[in-house]
Amino acid sequence: MKTAAGPIAVIDSGLGGLTVADALRKALPAEDLIYFGDTAHLPYGNKSPATVAGFVRQIIQFLSPMKPKHVVIACNTATALCLPTMVAEFPEISVSGVIEPGARAAVVAAGAKPVPTIGIIATEATVRSKAYGRAILQRRSMAQVLLRATPLLVPMIEEGRSSDDPVVDLALRQYLQGMISRKLDVLVLGCTHYPLVKKAIARVMGNKVRLIDSAEQCAQDVALRLRRKHLLREVNVNASGEVGSFQSFVTDDPDRFATLAARFLRMKIRPPVLVEPRDLYILAAPAPWKVSA
Ligand code: DGL
Repeated sequence: MKTAAGPIAVIDSGLGGLTVADALRKALPAEDLIYFGDTAHLPYGNKSPATVAGFVRQIIQFLSPMKPKHVVIACNTATALCLPTMVAEFPEISVSGVIEPGARAAVVAAGAKPVPTIGIIATEATVRSKAYGRAILQRRSMAQVLLRATPLLVPMIEEGRSSDDPVVDLALRQYLQGMISRKLDVLVLGCTHYPLVKKAIARVMGNKVRLIDSAEQCAQDVALRLRRKHLLREVNVNASGEVGSFQSFVTDDPDRFATLAARFLRMKIRPPVLVEPRDLYILAAPAPWKVSA
């Protein structure tokens, strides 16, 4: 049985899900978070649905002995390619993704305009899946949906490049040219890495375009799900000073991850635990990592 004491698990291919973890820490500071960055297999964005589903399945199996009260697939690519499969394969674990909350927020941001133009930038695999188009058109059938794959952004962000980097600026100008000329109403950052260069995207798109940060929307969605199930930890962070813990697991190069993660989260983090990809296959082993503050 799930209890409020369990951690929230956040999964991504690398650093991108930290944007969700960061939003979760702000929205739910009392919660323990476990973060899994599958850095050995990054990027997911150019891989097939079967391959990505295989990675995510192993990660969920690996995390399940830690009894997460919720698993959030904080990766648009993995959400687009395998969320329904994971929900069906792990009926005892509550699992959600990033696309539905992002699409919902995009439609709200488009306001009452009868035919809004909504752009989505994402990885190649997310664009190919058409998952965003489906989720938006279900809610606003007249919307014009424009999709653009922006595959160079994830490796740049994983390299630690940020909004003031001229290479990021150049790539964005190239990728977004077509969208600028189509006068978008809303642009969805359809990859959880992209909020890390949100300032540059805003600069290139101009201030008339509403940007939807799928990470922020996803965190709000998780908070709502847990509140509805009465699974939030009842700790008054202000009164007790007690904040939730943050433990990360990565499949490659924990030092590099620690440096970049500390920068993005603006806090010192506990050393990430290295989980070698071959260890992900040893699924029956009890987790030796205790998650407590
Ligand atoms: N952060 C992931 C997403 O939201 C993708 C990054 C990758 O290609 O691995 O799509």
